[in-house]
Amino acid sequence: MKKLLGILLLMIMAIVFAACSSDSSSGSDGAEESDASAGSGDSEEAAESGGDGGTVEIFSWWTGAGEEDGLLALIDLFEQEHPDITVENAAVAGGAGTNAKAVLATRMQGDDPPSTFQVHGGAELNDGWVAADKMEPLNDFYEEEGLMDKFPQDLIDLVSKDGNIYSVPVNIHRGNVVFYNKAIFEEHGLEVPTTYDEFIEVADTLKSAGVTPLALGDKEAWTATQIFENILLGELGPEDYRALWEGEVAFDDERVVEAAEKFKTVLGYVNEDHASRNWQDAAQLVGDGEAAMINMGDWAKGYFSNDLNLETNVDFGYFPYPETDGDFMVITDTFGLPKGVENPEDVKSFLSVLGSKEGQDAFNPLKGSIPARVDADTSKYDEYGQDAMDDFNNFNLTPSLAHGSAAAEGFVTKANQAVNIFVTQLDVENFINTLKNAAAEL
Ligand code: GAL
Repeated sequence: MKKLLGILLLMIMAIVFAACSSDSSSGSDGAEESDASAGSGDSEEAAESGGDGGTVEIFSWWTGAGEEDGLLALIDLFEQEHPDITVENAAVAGGAGTNAKAVLATRMQGDDPPSTFQVHGGAELNDGWVAADKMEPLNDFYEEEGLMDKFPQDLIDLVSKDGNIYSVPVNIHRGNVVFYNKAIFEEHGLEVPTTYDEFIEVADTLKSAGVTPLALGDKEAWTATQIFENILLGELGPEDYRALWEGEVAFDDERVVEAAEKFKTVLGYVNEDHASRNWQDAAQLVGDGEAAMINMGDWAKGYFSNDLNLETNVDFGYFPYPETDGDFMVITDTFGLPKGVENPEDVKSFLSVLGSKEGQDAFNPLKGSIPARVDADTSKYDEYGQDAMDDFNNFNLTPSLAHGSAAAEGFVTKANQAVNIFVTQLDVENFINTLKNAAAEL
């Protein structure tokens, strides 16, 4: 018994001694010790991966139907290649960045940037975050990753300012596409319209048969702005359409006024409840056979295929917005490296996967877009994707207003407001005057 007590006493003393010695080695602040040991673990992992082994916060507006599948596939690939880096998917819902851009602006102004964020190539990037000195140049990264000849030069130019490259494009979307319900067109014996007049004829036939010709969901105004920009492109042609955003064609040019008149006419063929629908709800009308056509960027193709399980060229077809055949309205989603992020090496690891052939071929077939890289595996894309790749290589490329490439954010916001008012008032003169006044922001 005595022996047993003695052993117990020894054990208790040993435990007390161990506790005391660990206390003294950690100093007076226990929290410091746990921080320090977490830090040393991180740096070991970082040494293995060549990065900081931290968290990469990816900020975008890709949530929900038709939006997130591509991003999730890209994140999966990244996590397989970098198991030591944690991904935080910080997506804020709302098509075309309606809400995300406001959240981003607040964070950037408060010096709290996400590790990387979705930004359109062109004015949104260059006149926005680059001009505000918020982005790191990525020239060395492009060289190290061998990316200089992997993107078309036009695209590199779109993400460059004053000789520096500021982001990595993940995709190319096309904005001047009309998707249509094939069964409805067959039932009414309709041909795909190529001119404005043919479009109106088709729309009239459908309307008198009691079918909504054009689906619109302009709960967020950009969807209507997108229709207007395509009509503008048709009226002005690619060169003068570009010149408009350079301030070289005036907003009261008679062709712009004519575009507004046509826009007004086209709005006479949309579903009555357009103001309460978002783009997915409107695209669904076409998928369900309740409306015949929708003008939407080809993220709608991702939505039709992945979410509605519709088959390309069987259930739905597509054609260029009337009068814009030969033109390709370019929308490119890109990601860069904001100044002041804690773990730039981890962010670069993500940009490296996003800019790789594998990354782009994981993302784009699901997103409905085509890869920004020139060396994609075309077999991974369906007929729509292959057509879009051909067109991108051969057509006139024009920047989208609704999706940030043509003009700075200040103008885009005002244009969306003007469109929003126009859709209800249909006052061409007022619309043109508002755009003209906003032109100071270009
Ligand atoms: C665009 C973006 C696309 C898609 C679309 C709808 O601005 O470039 O990737 O997300 O908005 O939200």
